[in-house]
Amino acid sequence: MCGIIGYVGKKKSALSFIVEGLKCLEYRGYDSAGIAYVDDENIKIVKSEGQISNLETKLNMNVESSIGIGHTRWATHGIPNEINSHPHRSGSITLVHNGIIENYMEIKDELGKEGKKFLSDTDSEVAACLIDSLFEKTKDMKEAILLFKKKVKGSYAIALMVDEDTSKIYVIKNLSPLIIGLGSDENFIASDVPAILKWTKQYVTLSDGEFAIVDDKNIDLYDIDGVEKEVLVKTFSGDASSIDKGEYEHFMLKEIHEEPEVIKTLISEYLMEDNLSSLPNLRNYKNVTIVACGSAYHAGLVGKHFIENNLDIPVSVELASEFKYKKLFINDEDVVIAISQSGETADTLAAVKIAKSLKAHTIGIVNVKESSIAREVDEVIYTLAGSEIAVATTKAYLSQIVLLLLISIQDMNLVEWKKELSSLPVKIEKLINEENLYKKIASEVKDRDDIFFIGRQIDYAICLEGSLKLKEISYIHSEAYAAGELKHGTISLISQDTPVFAVITDEIIAEKTISNIKEVKSRGARIFLVISEDIYIPEEVYDFVVVIPNALKSIVSIMSVIPLQMISYEVAKLRGCSIDKPRNLAKSVTVE
Ligand code: G6P
Repeated sequence: MCGIIGYVGKKKSALSFIVEGLKCLEYRGYDSAGIAYVDDENIKIVKSEGQISNLETKLNMNVESSIGIGHTRWATHGIPNEINSHPHRSGSITLVHNGIIENYMEIKDELGKEGKKFLSDTDSEVAACLIDSLFEKTKDMKEAILLFKKKVKGSYAIALMVDEDTSKIYVIKNLSPLIIGLGSDENFIASDVPAILKWTKQYVTLSDGEFAIVDDKNIDLYDIDGVEKEVLVKTFSGDASSIDKGEYEHFMLKEIHEEPEVIKTLISEYLMEDNLSSLPNLRNYKNVTIVACGSAYHAGLVGKHFIENNLDIPVSVELASEFKYKKLFINDEDVVIAISQSGETADTLAAVKIAKSLKAHTIGIVNVKESSIAREVDEVIYTLAGSEIAVATTKAYLSQIVLLLLISIQDMNLVEWKKELSSLPVKIEKLINEENLYKKIASEVKDRDDIFFIGRQIDYAICLEGSLKLKEISYIHSEAYAAGELKHGTISLISQDTPVFAVITDEIIAEKTISNIKEVKSRGARIFLVISEDIYIPEEVYDFVVVIPNALKSIVSIMSVIPLQMISYEVAKLRGCSIDKPRNLAKSVTVE
């Protein structure tokens, strides 16, 4: 979701840096892009709807500029067009903004009364106009920023330039991600660390309410009250090379192929080194609540089964966007686990803050190091999946469920688990390599309008993820149902040849799901079965089958998502979809 990039220094062409930086941020999702740069003391703005390549064709890359800001926009206020795209300019202020100014209508009215005019429908232009108006009155940027922060409600990461001094970039942060990268005689601004890794591994984070003034030599950092504070430089320790597609046609495919490696890393980090005790002991808490969004929420649903079955303690799983508004019964005896690949999802971050205000212990299961959620929680566990670029998560989701399994088996006999989990990477690799089968299944379903997924218990949780994966990248309508619920309504949608994917990994409920399969089959459905090797099912009940190799029950459940990821990928490919960057979606949803 909206990406910010900025450069100040004489060592590089600001334009080239910003264009390249915008490309690194593309994966977050966007529908327009723009740049503001200084040319001969004047701030110039170039914007364009659609791809960054559209912007590039409009830019004169030969201009030697040493300072600029760029933005990829994911529309929230106002349609995706050139006028609404960033940077926005008002008076002497030019800015890019990520987040939502909640009281922008009220502020817009007030500024309108002062005679200010607006070109766009965005809250961001209102932010530019407000800062300009405050700067006009105070003649002091620091003062204007403090007054701005007092006046606005909502989330914002802002990078701005001011006509009066074009050697500096001002950055302001509240509830939206923003970092400053450190170079020598040059500095960088970005929404996230991967965007600057090619040039530096050193960076500074801003806490909510803080702002900074950045030029080529200095970073002056100010706390929430405008008092200058010490700049703490962090060093990124991850692997920057993963931000490259390599031999693969899409990041999604590359990331699926990385899954065996991700599991190896997790096992050697937490299981083989006998490090399981470094993971939280959930028995220490009265109630366990998991909060998350999207696939991370689905991972939480899988984790609930692991924790309840293995640790014998109840778990509630909540959508972070709902958690914030519901009556909560959480206190200092409880634990709230936030699951988030990006560590930046605004709803999940807000849920963590609420849990902390209720004095619960907060744990983050996060992939991106030093992300907002990682910094906010009391205890962070990294999923060690490496950078994930495709919007549709695969390896990060897998790492979340494996980690939840590891948390749940701490006081079990580990000898068997070690053996079983050690063979998991090879089994997963074999499953990934069943490409021809997935292609065949994909060609069977690619032209259908509706696809259903059914399963019970943990298989239902896996179905939810399979269905989400398919719809988000192939744009085919799909729904997952708890198999027993079908006959309470949805079965009316089953007609001749309707594809139904059924997942059965748990022997105990296999009989029941098989009955539900028969119910839809007898109404014309085509059945695509994902089933554990050791569960028997008569051949006439299904049309296609993917067999998951024998293993402990939880491990079979984990493996069953792989074919669903691969089939989604193949369907989207056959339909010619934009697999890594599906329409309207963002990797990192930084607005609530
Ligand atoms: C977006 C992504 C999903 C992801 C969800 C939660 O919708 O497109 O793939 O599952 O956000 O993201 P998080 O980073 O918190 O796991």
